[in-house]
Amino acid sequence: MKLAVVGGGSTYTPELIDGFARLRDTLPISELVLIDPAADRLELIGGLARRIFAKQGHGGTITTTSDVDAGVADADAVLLQLRVGGQAARLQDETWPLECGCVGQETTGAGGLAKALRTVPVVLDIAERVRRTNPNAWIIDFTNPVGIVTRALLQAGHKAVGLCNVAIGFQRRFAALLDVAPSEVHLDHVGLNHLTWETGVRVGGPEGEDRLPALLAEHGASIAESLSLPHPLIERLGVVPSYYLRYFYAHDEVVRELRTKPSRASEVAAMERQLLEMYGDPALDSKPELLAKRGGAFYSEAAVDLAASLLGGGGSPYQVVNTLNNGTLPFLPDDAVIETQASVDARGASPLAVAPVDPLYAGLIANVTAYEDLALDAALRGGRDRVFRALLSHPLIGQYEYAEALTDQLVAHNREHLAWA
Ligand code: G6P
Ligand code: MN
Repeated sequence: MKLAVVGGGSTYTPELIDGFARLRDTLPISELVLIDPAADRLELIGGLARRIFAKQGHGGTITTTSDVDAGVADADAVLLQLRVGGQAARLQDETWPLECGCVGQETTGAGGLAKALRTVPVVLDIAERVRRTNPNAWIIDFTNPVGIVTRALLQAGHKAVGLCNVAIGFQRRFAALLDVAPSEVHLDHVGLNHLTWETGVRVGGPEGEDRLPALLAEHGASIAESLSLPHPLIERLGVVPSYYLRYFYAHDEVVRELRTKPSRASEVAAMERQLLEMYGDPALDSKPELLAKRGGAFYSEAAVDLAASLLGGGGSPYQVVNTLNNGTLPFLPDDAVIETQASVDARGASPLAVAPVDPLYAGLIANVTAYEDLALDAALRGGRDRVFRALLSHPLIGQYEYAEALTDQLVAHNREHLAWA
């Protein structure tokens, strides 16, 4: 089995390699290609990746290239984990929206729109290359904003599934609290990428008993604390929002914090410098502890699980993925991309039925779906007016004054990445 990773020069890659090595019985990779435009990073990370495989007795080969066409040729699956413009572009996304009193974040709000505009054309170009050389290959998209990017891929007819680690993170956490194996925990997971709620936590599978009420009664305070949301709010909701919901439920509080704290982009950039230095040490043959400080916990396990199932092997029968709605949430268009439990096999992902969604969440999901539709239109066709429409539709923006000012900022800060600007 051959896998290719576009963005293989990412400092996250050793997490992925570690998962591939540990879980090789689930996903038997014989050939792994790391693809990245940054040759220096590829050399560093390719070297460490080979040492991790060797140490763990993995017999697969690891090669590196900056040539996408050559790298993806014959791959059974291609993982996309790229970041157009790097942490420098992310820093911009996190900064200029604050001037309007709007959240500055890499996937939520105006910053997320900027990221979508930079990213969608690049991802579509790569996907076309994959399809040309290997029409049967699966594309697994980790590239943010995952909902919009996956929608772009599916709309263009690609064999793609979008993936995020939020659900697997909750699954692992709840499993520990319930003292059961992670594979025993089945989440009722509702919404869009980075806009989800856990409305049930079942043990044993989709029909298992819902242990969420008991979990909240016993561990509600610590769960609320980990989300930086007030415990009484979580008690009133009776469900567990992802930490991205804090940008909605505590928007102004977050803006006040972001104005005083160092940006996440600068923290990550500092960590990346340290990580790259560590990766260069020929004695290092495992993923360093420092990598755990990044947000990508368990992402390798989610990737292995998904790739194994898509390639006809032994991944988990149900997985939380980003895929077409197709009636699953009846208040959304069929061609919207939702993040949901699905059964996954070599034919792809089929969403499980979802219980009726409380209007408290359905309203926000529908609003952000409409925004994502307009965001994709702006990413595909460009133009200030389409950017303005997407911003005006976003529930965290909504006022024409802000949408206008943010359109100016977005264009000014992203000119080098936008063909039309
Ligand atoms: C989580 C999200 C990812 C995001 C990451 C950011 O893992 O699910 O979509 O990319 O956090 O982590 P970072 O360490 O870059 O802030
Ligand atoms: Mn994510």
